[in-house]
Amino acid sequence: QEAALQGRFQERVDAEEKIEPRDWMPEGYRRTLVRQISQHAHSEIVGMLPEGNWITRAPTLRRKVALLAKVQDEGGHGLYLYSAAETLGVSRDELVGQLLSGKAKYSSIFNYPTPTWADIGAIGWLVDGAAIMNQVPLCRCSYGPYARAMVRICREESFHQRQGYELMLALAQGTAAQKRMAQDALNRWWWPSLMMFGPSDDQSAHSAQNMAWKIKRFSNDELRQRFVDATVPQAEFLGLTIPDPELRFNAETGHYEFGAIDWTEFNEILKGNGPCNRERIEARRKAWDDGAWVREAAVAHATKRKQRALK
Ligand code: ACO
Repeated sequence: QEAALQGRFQERVDAEEKIEPRDWMPEGYRRTLVRQISQHAHSEIVGMLPEGNWITRAPTLRRKVALLAKVQDEGGHGLYLYSAAETLGVSRDELVGQLLSGKAKYSSIFNYPTPTWADIGAIGWLVDGAAIMNQVPLCRCSYGPYARAMVRICREESFHQRQGYELMLALAQGTAAQKRMAQDALNRWWWPSLMMFGPSDDQSAHSAQNMAWKIKRFSNDELRQRFVDATVPQAEFLGLTIPDPELRFNAETGHYEFGAIDWTEFNEILKGNGPCNRERIEARRKAWDDGAWVREAAVAHATKRKQRALK
């Protein structure tokens, strides 16, 4: 009977039908979705930290308003995504517990520091640019609640990317010192942004199955290539140099070829040894502990309201 259910499930996926929370699904499908959606949610929440660092120091009111809105959007994305994961039968407390204990992963990119204002531009341009490349196909993911959450998230990401690029443009067209700051941020964020797409296809444990289940629509390497192809002309327009001596356009394939990624750096970050891993988890633990009274008050309030309604 299990085989028949599996067959029917795959037929529905192949026919591009959305799978909904109450539908039958293979245990592996449920597990990989909980893994991916919760990692994605954690990335949004941890991703608020590197940029939050600059809210009080944004150079103008306009920049501050945009940055505040962006960081707030990321908090919202995290919350939609936790809700999408909860439809698969896992509780939010459990998911947060996995993040705080170090059991759950979140994107490698958020373990790098943001020492200068140009980092805010580079994050918007490159990190959100990479996020869009990876996430637009997720709007067509086979799991309904995840696909629907991604539609709004992608629209907001697109605003984030533009504010970052516009910020980089202002710096690149500014004083020599501002242009140097922009170049330095590009130098530091370029390679980590390429790593965001995950290990190369031959090292990617989940890709084949996730593509068959139509969770993923394109492989890690395909999306990375698209990102490079889209971003190199943007760097040229800014008058900045991508820090890769091997980067060149191949007129025959119509794609940019790029140098080898340092996977040792990526693996060290995944093991918790990146420049900011400890600081990030520490900040999340503190936020969780400091917010305990809010959660307790909300539960007490809900209980009182329920009791009042029963009287
Ligand atoms: N950072 C941290 N871990 C990563 C990264 C990364 N950049 N890329 C891959 N990994 C992890 C995977 O989570 C997986 O770990 P696990 O088996 O312990 O769960 C392992 O490396 C192997 O990778 P894959 O087999 O390629 O995993 P998968 O098929 O899930 O692909 C990907 C990885 C592309 C990140 C996918 O999960 C995805 O599309 N996720 C949704 C998007 C997302 O999470 N974006 C977060 C950053 S963007 C933002 O928040 C602004």
